[in-house]
Amino acid sequence: MEKQNNSNIPASFRNFKPQFTVHAPGRINIIGEHTDYNDGFVLPTAINKKIKLQFSANGSASVCNIYSKTYNTYFSFDLQKISRSEHMWENYILGVVNEIQKRGKNPEGFDCIIDSDLPVGAGISSSAALECGIAFGLNELFNLGLSRQTIAELSRDAEHHYVGTKCGIMDQFASVLSREDHLILLDCHSLEATYVPANFEGHKLVLLNTKVSHSLAASEYNTRRKECEEVINYIQKRYPEVNSLRDVDLQRLQEFKNELSEVLYKRARFIISENNRVLKAVEALKSDDLDHLGLLMYASHKGLRDNYEVSCKELDFLVEFSTNFEAVKGARMMGGGFGGCTINLIEEEAIDDFVQKATEAYGKKFNIEPEVIIVTPQQGTYITKN
Ligand code: GLA
Repeated sequence: MEKQNNSNIPASFRNFKPQFTVHAPGRINIIGEHTDYNDGFVLPTAINKKIKLQFSANGSASVCNIYSKTYNTYFSFDLQKISRSEHMWENYILGVVNEIQKRGKNPEGFDCIIDSDLPVGAGISSSAALECGIAFGLNELFNLGLSRQTIAELSRDAEHHYVGTKCGIMDQFASVLSREDHLILLDCHSLEATYVPANFEGHKLVLLNTKVSHSLAASEYNTRRKECEEVINYIQKRYPEVNSLRDVDLQRLQEFKNELSEVLYKRARFIISENNRVLKAVEALKSDDLDHLGLLMYASHKGLRDNYEVSCKELDFLVEFSTNFEAVKGARMMGGGFGGCTINLIEEEAIDDFVQKATEAYGKKFNIEPEVIIVTPQQGTYITKN
C-alpha cells in the first residue's frame, strides 16, 4: 500500500470524474444488544453521519483503485486476485468484492474516493457503512441486480470471512434499509422489518463517545457468540426443537440453572431478557411513554455490564453519571461494547447542561474529552448523481 499526501493525490485519480456518490450512514441502536446473532430483536436506525463514496468505472477489466481522503491512504487491487490484506481497512473492501464474486456477479475495474465523518471505533458502525457503501456502489455501477437485503447480508459475510468478527446482521441491515424518522424493529431470525415512528417528542438522542476502544472487543465478541452457542447445544439435548436463544424463555432457562456454568447462565439470561426489553420498548414508544423506554435502556445497560460483561469503566461512568439528571430518560452503552459510545435519551432543553457537566466529570476522571454527537434517524444508503 502506498501512502500519499494531499498534494500528491494518486495518479490514477488525477482525471477522476465520479459518475455518482453513494451515501452510506452509520447506525445507532435504541435497545437490543448482542441479540442479533442470537436470532433475536433489535431496534436500530441509520443516522445523520455517513461515509461518502464517489464511484467511476475506469474501463479496465480488473484494476480497482481506492483512495481514502479521510485517512489519505491509497491502494489498488486486481479483481482476478482477491485475497486478504494485512491492512485491516482494505479487508472491508476486498471482503465485499469477494462476496459479490462468490454470488456469481462480476464487477469490472473501478475507481472510488472515500470521505467520512463517521468516527472509527465509536460503535456506530463505520465498518458496516464502508462495506455496504462499496457493495451498493458496485451494484449500481455494473447493474449487478443485488437487492438491499442481499447487500446487507453479503457485507456481513465479508466481515466474517475477511475481518474475522462473527457479527450479526444489525449494523449492515440498519445502514442499508433504514427509513427517515423511523426505527427498525428487526426480527433477526426472519429478517422481517417493522418500521416504528421515532417519536421522541421534545427529546433527542445524544451519543457520548468515550474515545476508548479496548483491545478485548473483537476477541470477546466472538467468545460471547460461542458461549451462546454452547448454551443452545446443551439445551438442544433435551429440547431438540430449540435452534437459538430466541426459542428459549426465562422459565425454560431456569430448568438448566444448576447444569450450566454460572457464566453461561448469565449470558443466556441477558439475551432472553434483552429480547423481551426490545418488544417492551416498542410498546413504550407507541404509547409515547418515554419514561418507560428510558428505564428499559438503563436495565439493558445493567445486563450488559453485569451479566453479558461487555461494558467497561468509561461507559459505566457515563451511564451512572447520567442518572443525576432527571432530564435524561435513559442511557446505556451501545454496540459491541468495551468502549465506543453511550446513547442518551434526553430532554432537548437540558442537552447543553448535561453535555457540559458530563464532559467535565469524564475529563476529570479519565483525562479524555468525550465526543458529543447529536443524532437523528435517517434513511439508509442512497445515491446522488454528480
Ligand atoms: C456489533 C455487531 C452487531 C451487534 C452489535 C451488538 O455492532 O456488528 O452485529 O452484534 O455489536 O449488538
